[in-house]
Amino acid sequence: MRSSSYSPPLADPPPSSPHIPALPQRPRFHQRHIEGADTVRKELSEGLVKPQAEISPKFLYDELGSSLFTAITLLDEYYPTRCENQIFSRYAGEIVGHAGRVRALIDLGAGDCAKAERLLEHLKPAQYVPVDISADYLKAAVRRIAGRYPDPDLVALGMDFFHDLSLPDEVLPEGRAFFYPGSSIGNLPPEQAAELLANMRRQAPGGAIIVGVDLVKPREILEPAYDDAIGVTAAFNLNLLRHVNRILNADFDPAQWQHVACFNEARSRMEMHLRARKTAVVRWDGGERRFEEGEAIHTEDSYKYRPQTFKTMLARAGFGQIRYWTDEREWFAVFCARA
Ligand code: AVJ
Repeated sequence: MRSSSYSPPLADPPPSSPHIPALPQRPRFHQRHIEGADTVRKELSEGLVKPQAEISPKFLYDELGSSLFTAITLLDEYYPTRCENQIFSRYAGEIVGHAGRVRALIDLGAGDCAKAERLLEHLKPAQYVPVDISADYLKAAVRRIAGRYPDPDLVALGMDFFHDLSLPDEVLPEGRAFFYPGSSIGNLPPEQAAELLANMRRQAPGGAIIVGVDLVKPREILEPAYDDAIGVTAAFNLNLLRHVNRILNADFDPAQWQHVACFNEARSRMEMHLRARKTAVVRWDGGERRFEEGEAIHTEDSYKYRPQTFKTMLARAGFGQIRYWTDEREWFAVFCARA
């Protein structure tokens, strides 16, 4: 009998017929506050008028930029993705073993969820939590995962985890493991990277972290990786100007700018800049600036660590049982530690 207070039973779903495959469970989506357009424009505008002009690397990833980054990972010169893949293919079992019992795998900057997918088979978590700046970016990938892996509960989170890493209540509180591959942590200056690591540890008591880190190596290897022979990285960097043109209604002419990538050895980071080929006056809604010939806009830092330095950073953030694995040339490292 039905009454108005009837609610469907939570436990014991009807026994499934062997002839009818279980429907993929529907993933759940959460979106936190997204920066308003005015805030974004203000941030960009302020960066452009600084004595040393700058544009945050987050603006590299519009639709074309994200495709160009995927293309970069296929270049001969861009080693990080291949090195990290090699480490996971060889040592996934060991890495996962070191992480301990993982109930919730929290994937920071998940994007297409492809990297975590390989870990899911090993970790078999009760819950998979891909996180990206916009939950919309995760939709297609999460539905694909739902179809392939019927077991884990799926919670997709749209949030800016640099800003706030607190997780909604439905993320399982015990056995959390943060997964932050690709050396994306290298985009942050070391002080901010340390802060993010400490935040992760606070959010995963008793859990673990698995993080990809690019290692210091000779300039002769680093610089071509960020300035490839066929100009894909140059296009990736220059495309930033097209993105800024759309956001700010600006009039950057990408043809007037040159991609520059250099290893700043003193600061242990690869830097990307855009250098004015000749004097340029750029105007946008609410501002303008004259760039002299040769003047540059700083667009990205990608920090390179020595294993010992990163280990110390993890230890200072409160992690224990720190281990790392490298590829055969020791160009890249995957760290795993307990929170
Ligand atoms: C996605 C931040 C890891 O720093 O190597 C690739 C971005 N920039 N080529 C990196 C990037 C230029 C990449 N991360």
